[in-house]
Amino acid sequence: MILEASGIKKEYIRAGNSFWALNDVSLSVDEGEFICIVGRSGSGKTTLLNILAGLLTPTSGSVYFEGREYSGLSDCELSGMRSTRLGYIMQGQTVLPNFTVLQNTLIPHVLADRGDAAEAAMSLLEQVGLAHLAGQYPSSLSGGELRRVSIARALLSSPVLLIADEPTGDLDEETAGEIMRIFTSVSKKGTAVLMVTHDMNSAAFGTRSYRMASGQLL
Ligand SMILES: Nc1ncnc2c1ncn2[C@@H]1O[C@H](COP(=O)(O)OP(=O)(O)OP(=O)(O)O)[C@@H](O)[C@H]1O
Ligand SMILES: [Mg+2]
Repeated sequence: MILEASGIKKEYIRAGNSFWALNDVSLSVDEGEFICIVGRSGSGKTTLLNILAGLLTPTSGSVYFEGREYSGLSDCELSGMRSTRLGYIMQGQTVLPNFTVLQNTLIPHVLADRGDAAEAAMSLLEQVGLAHLAGQYPSSLSGGELRRVSIARALLSSPVLLIADEPTGDLDEETAGEIMRIFTSVSKKGTAVLMVTHDMNSAAFGTRSYRMASGQLL
């Protein structure tokens, strides 16, 4: 078991009114699984992923990652774990404009002081079809190409869990299919994949799927 979340609730307060963005969500993830979550905008998907990645604290409930509960870890332990064991492809663009594609792919590696990984990064850029753009800056890339940079970056640490929030949202069908084949291949090598998507074609690649509605996983 890589990840086990139980009884997750998240209360948000906006303009003085509180509401439950997540209402009793439980989920477990095993090695090599490819889990898809589909659900309408605002149903709580990103909130759930942020909690599972240890970036957001739930109002109640627990998350165990590789047997350790997030609430028992210090900030330092949590970020160490995130940078080595978990890859998170966030919704929206997260590449840094003043670094090249290759440098962006290497950023978490450099920050964690893990030595030279340029060759591994180039091989991942090759896999996502971006090797020819390695020396370019983000301003000259399309939305889909930028998305593929964040995919390569998340895979560089060979995470045990890859979390992806709408990774194919701005990709054409063919490129989305290529990304799904990469996810399938990493999951077959043992990395668990947990993906949120609106795209039913992409969801079909999952080995297990859920629907999220009003803060509940169905
Ligand atoms: N920090 C916050 N404070 C208050 N409300 C929030 C906060 N973050 C998210 N919400 C609200 O919580 C609900 C769930 O948001 P979330 O981002 O998890 O949805 P989502 O399912 O990922 O939607 P989308 O498909 O549009 O990305 C939404 O109604 C959103 O407006
Ligand atoms: Mg979202």
